[in-house]
Amino acid sequence: MWWLKEVAVIDPSQTISSPCDVLIKDGKVLDIASSLTEVDVSAKAQGEAVETIEGKGKFLFPGLIDVHTHLREPGQEEKEDILSGSRAAVRGGFTTILAMANTQPVIDKRALIEFVRLQGERAGYAHVLPIGTVTKGMQGSELVEMADMKEGGAAAFSDDGKNIQNAEVMRLALEYAKLTGLPIISHCEDKDLAGDGLMRRGLASGRMGLRGIPGSAESVIVGRDLILAEETRGKLHLAHISTAESVDLIRKAKARGVDVTAEVNPHHLIFCDEDIKLNDTVLKVNPPLGSKEDREALIEGLKDGTIDMIATDHAPHTQAEKTRPFAEAPFGIASLETALSAVWQHLVVPGRLSLDRVVEAWSVSPAKRFGLNGGTLKPGAPADMVLFDPDYKEVIKPANLVSKARNTPFLGKSFQGLPVMVWVEGRLVQKDRMVL
Ligand code: NCD
Ligand code: ZN
Repeated sequence: MWWLKEVAVIDPSQTISSPCDVLIKDGKVLDIASSLTEVDVSAKAQGEAVETIEGKGKFLFPGLIDVHTHLREPGQEEKEDILSGSRAAVRGGFTTILAMANTQPVIDKRALIEFVRLQGERAGYAHVLPIGTVTKGMQGSELVEMADMKEGGAAAFSDDGKNIQNAEVMRLALEYAKLTGLPIISHCEDKDLAGDGLMRRGLASGRMGLRGIPGSAESVIVGRDLILAEETRGKLHLAHISTAESVDLIRKAKARGVDVTAEVNPHHLIFCDEDIKLNDTVLKVNPPLGSKEDREALIEGLKDGTIDMIATDHAPHTQAEKTRPFAEAPFGIASLETALSAVWQHLVVPGRLSLDRVVEAWSVSPAKRFGLNGGTLKPGAPADMVLFDPDYKEVIKPANLVSKARNTPFLGKSFQGLPVMVWVEGRLVQKDRMVL
């Protein structure tokens, strides 16, 4: 049994944001109280040994749930695999991750869903929940067998990495997915508008002479999908929203009652197109980083609930790929290990976002939208949780990363404020930044 004493509990699911004592037993939260005595605790331990943690000055919150991670297994294990990715997850404070389907082969049948789920269980770190593709072979034309894949453990459906260009296929997908109750996750990118652009079209792309992707490449599909979700009453989740225009469209659709949720990635909240350097592809990501105005609109949207959740879009690539010339390197940022601390440092510490909102957006909302066990420290809930030390300092070094990927803009940067203990179902899996 664990006894966390005088720890600042942040649990928006119960509107708790105050110092508490927390007891963990048999993999579950047993009790949360304003304070407990030795007598209370030994009565509840019923003879079991008690490990005590002095929590003063630290935060405890439900484990983060990341609905957008690329784990690359099967097929591209040189970039990442389910074991390395789920270790990176718990190092970063994530106890559940949803694995994207754009692997090789793509996850478009039940047997593959079951493979990803089993590999996650064998790894034994974060809970790994597979996302299935929407269309067979991710070819954008024929729908997968959604009900069968749900039986095998699919948590959602997405052709992420590629947009579903055919509006009729998207409409059918939203309609058909209603049978499963699971959301369709849309990677909104009009192929023709995006062309072979490399970064957001704007002053910065002009200055650097890099081909631009207009913001409309995203927002025209956001608009299309919102209309289709409204018409079908389907369940839509919009991945990696990056423009002010998209935020505006979502806000209006929500006001009309459309069943839509949206996510934003930490890099779109922290960086903008002006941070990109021609000789460094680390910020080459899809969707591309927007303008400062886009970034402001995303922060506002996250604050007012237009954007429901934060998700990493952890997109690991090898150094060999990322050190190619700008036009040839793949899109993507690896972020499981740094995302929470980066959001803490760049948004919470300067007062742009409250920690309560971060936990709500990265744990409570994902659990609710995807119907997952987690996102709460209510007694009886699985003890998936994070102890976060706002004073802990670390320099991000390649040697310390447990992900296979090094494509993070934070290498060499020093962070203050990190997850220092992480439990999955009451089992300690990370302590003092070491994955156990
Ligand atoms: C992702 C990848 O590498 O799979 N890349 C990215 O830049 N985000 C695909 C995606 O999420 O669109
Ligand atoms: Zn995507």
